[in-house]
Amino acid sequence: MESIESSSGISRRELLKATGTVAAASALAGVVIPQQVYAGETNTIQVALVGAGGRGTGAAENALSTKLGPVKLTAMADVFPDKLKGSFDSLKGKFKEMVDVPEERKFIGFDAYKQAMDSLKKGDVVILTTPPAFRWVQFKYAIERGLNVFMEKPVTVDGPSTRKMLALYEESLKKNLKVGVGLMCRHCEARGELFNRIKDGELGELNLLRAYRVSGPTGSAFVNKKQGDISELMYQIRNFHGFLWASGGGFSDFLIHNIDECCWMKDAWPVEAKGYGGRHYRGEYVDQNFDSYTVEYTFADGAKMILEGRGMINCQNEFASYCHGSKGSAVISQSGHAPSGARIFKGQKMTEDQVVWRCKTPEPNPYQLEWDHIMHAIRQDTPYNEVKRGAEASLVTSMGRMACHTGRAVTFDEMLNCEHEFAPMVDQLTLDGPAPVLANAEGKYPIPAPGIKTTREY
Ligand SMILES: NC(=O)c1ccc[n+]([C@@H]2O[C@H](COP(=O)([O-])OP(=O)(O)OC[C@H]3O[C@@H](n4cnc5c(N)ncnc54)[C@H](O)[C@@H]3O)[C@@H](O)[C@H]2O)c1
Repeated sequence: MESIESSSGISRRELLKATGTVAAASALAGVVIPQQVYAGETNTIQVALVGAGGRGTGAAENALSTKLGPVKLTAMADVFPDKLKGSFDSLKGKFKEMVDVPEERKFIGFDAYKQAMDSLKKGDVVILTTPPAFRWVQFKYAIERGLNVFMEKPVTVDGPSTRKMLALYEESLKKNLKVGVGLMCRHCEARGELFNRIKDGELGELNLLRAYRVSGPTGSAFVNKKQGDISELMYQIRNFHGFLWASGGGFSDFLIHNIDECCWMKDAWPVEAKGYGGRHYRGEYVDQNFDSYTVEYTFADGAKMILEGRGMINCQNEFASYCHGSKGSAVISQSGHAPSGARIFKGQKMTEDQVVWRCKTPEPNPYQLEWDHIMHAIRQDTPYNEVKRGAEASLVTSMGRMACHTGRAVTFDEMLNCEHEFAPMVDQLTLDGPAPVLANAEGKYPIPAPGIKTTREY
């Protein structure tokens, strides 16, 4: 790659690739030049994976499966060598030469993200799939490096990290970066058609939405006491669903999708939340989560969204979202994320004989669609930035969680302006340094106490 750069930060050779001809390049002298460099169909987009766990490996698979290649995975970063190895072995086995990550481009540690991004060139893509706490730190660096980004949800965990993310969003827009956020249900075609039908008035006024994710213990939300010689910080990261600083807890990590798809159908964010929850069967678990949550969200027009989250065994399971309007009702999603099974009923009774519209089947995989969409935007240099929406969805999720944890009604503005930052030093963590939250003498971590701790969640 040439080192001489135009005033926009794009090299002459990149510009020629993007515009096709020398004449076009001359004609463009002095005007704002698009940042993307991949308009030429033969250019390989290099991808780096930061956070090589379950979803990171899946996201890399989606990136390498897109038809908008050529694409290569060229660098990987994690804080645990075993995680990186597991992810590399799996991806290499499936994608062979599309995975070009030699030992010198496998990076371990809290600075590994920088090294992985340094190995890319402007306009390449970095995947950010660590626990959410690190999102703003790594996104900031990606913007500095001029990289396109795919980052997983939630993108923030509290008010201060949301404000940081919204400021970074503005920076990423200025650089014309393409940024995807892993709320993949927004890319689902069936839900998209349902949204259009709601907009066309098929359900009348939407006045109630309902979201459920009630199942047995999920992810690392139920954490056993630390054992062995793993450091406190690395134990918390390994069990990130158990710690509010790392993930926003099970509430944020698991419930955000159903909250977000309901808000999409309503085409608004709620302005206030009140909520309930408790720790009923926590036994010896030491994490900060409740095992049941109920939130009543209120929209500006008075419409309500009811959210239920539970992690208990031997109880009824449901993973679905619904909406109700003055003229009918609809399934937004019926069981997990995909397929959605989206359909409309003529009244409020959701039985098969009342169905008036049903989405087409089979439904394309939304995890793949979100990658096809961002890659298309990179190739075509069309505007593509999901960060504001992702940050707002994360904030609305935090708002419901804070209402449950404090026992108070919490407004959108209050959540956005909340000063309690769970991990203010998250950009300075080191492998052997201190953790953002500490256990008491019994090895248990501070938990929310509604009505007692009312301005902070713990
Ligand atoms: N969209 C979805 O449906 C979906 C599904 C699963 C997970 N996710 C999201 O993906 C993210 C990761 O979840 P997961 O289930 O893959 O967890 P995971 O624990 O399997 O993966 C996280 C990886 O990040 C690594 N890591 C932690 N801190 C790091 C740091 N500072 N720098 C580099 N690497 C670091 C961990 O070692 C681990 O390998 C979460 O935000 C989660 O909400 C989204």
